[in-house]
Amino acid sequence: MEDKFKLKSKVYFNKQSIQILEQIKGSRAFIVSDSIMEKLGYLQKAVDYLSKAGISSIVFTGVRPDPDIKVITEGLKLYEESDADVLVAIGGGSAIDTAKGILYFSWKLKSEAGGEMKKPLFIAIPSTSGTGSEVTDFTVITSEGTKVCIVDEFIAPDIAILDSTCIQHVPERVVADTGIDVLVHAIEAYVSTNATDFTDALAEKAVKLIFENVEKLYNDPKNPDARDRVQNASCMAGMAFANSNLGINHSLAHALGATFHISHGRSNAILLNTVMEYNSNLRGSANGYVAERYAKLATILQLPARTHREGTVNFIQAVARLKKALGVEDTIRKLGVDEDEFERALDQMSEKAMLDRCTPTNPRQPSKEDLIGIYRKCY
Ligand SMILES: NC(=O)c1ccc[n+]([C@@H]2O[C@H](COP(=O)([O-])OP(=O)(O)OC[C@H]3O[C@@H](n4cnc5c(N)ncnc54)[C@H](O)[C@@H]3O)[C@@H](O)[C@H]2O)c1
Ligand SMILES: [Zn+2]
Repeated sequence: MEDKFKLKSKVYFNKQSIQILEQIKGSRAFIVSDSIMEKLGYLQKAVDYLSKAGISSIVFTGVRPDPDIKVITEGLKLYEESDADVLVAIGGGSAIDTAKGILYFSWKLKSEAGGEMKKPLFIAIPSTSGTGSEVTDFTVITSEGTKVCIVDEFIAPDIAILDSTCIQHVPERVVADTGIDVLVHAIEAYVSTNATDFTDALAEKAVKLIFENVEKLYNDPKNPDARDRVQNASCMAGMAFANSNLGINHSLAHALGATFHISHGRSNAILLNTVMEYNSNLRGSANGYVAERYAKLATILQLPARTHREGTVNFIQAVARLKKALGVEDTIRKLGVDEDEFERALDQMSEKAMLDRCTPTNPRQPSKEDLIGIYRKCY
């Protein structure tokens, strides 16, 4: 691996930072969003600020959770017709990933046809905290029932706007799902085979911010300070994993979520403890690199960690407590997944997880049987 840390996006943060749209240079914006953002008025807010900058807007509100090729194709057609020089995504990870998909395929199709794309200024405004997609070069697109990650620096947003007033109406369940997703991003970045001092610093801070604030936010969605802190954690975890990549928690979650239509965050949350036990070899010596890292995270949370094993056990227990406080089910069965269907899907899900882009940077290289074992334990 090349030793580098990349950070392309300029990040504006804190309440009302969406106002920065008044200062954007351009003539026409293509806005990618969904009907909920429209109903909540965030979309209009963006249109109004852009209009103050002399930018007219064309709006696509066809985003659906876990975007598939069909949504990207619909959006791409309108985008090509729009002649936009500014691309704005406003919404959760699904809206931002849809905009990235549109950008990616527009660029690929033009270059295959021998043409060149005039790259628009790409602005991402997340309305969940979150996927970190506002600063990553990842997009996750569902194709024929499989979640495929496309990774390319070309699709990393130029500007990320973390205006936490845009996350004030997030439903409780989405706060829990996306909050745990942030934690998984930070933990996987921290134990990734590509972790560096730079990604560690971001991951450590994100873990601390999540433990200090996400439960507060879940219990009081109006808490403005908790909203800012969780939003910052989400972005920091995104910066970390955009550089270090993720691990098998995400590989397994991608396949599980796509097969049984479970949200990205909840799929990750259900698997987290068992994946940590596997990665740290908790049933064995639990004194290797991963256990050392989990123990370090325990000390950051001021939990006892006199040995790597003690720190690992305490960290995993703290994660379990947090998940419970956020109403996350502790088994896949409790999500209503039928046992026979689950057993039938196991082989294919594990196969897909083995091939997922997140697997090679997991700190412990699994066999397919290991992954089947993790799924079964989580069921
Ligand atoms: N690109 C990346 O780096 C990356 C990283 C992790 C996950 N993902 C992908 O992102 C997607 C998940 O994104 P997500 O977890 O943000 O959820 P989401 O974007 O799918 O949104 C979940 C639901 O919450 C609603 N919602 C969003 N913001 C809201 C708000 N402010 N108020 C009320 N409702 C709101 C949405 O309309 C939707 O119904 C998945 O497809 C996942 O694979 C991408
Ligand atoms: Zn994730």
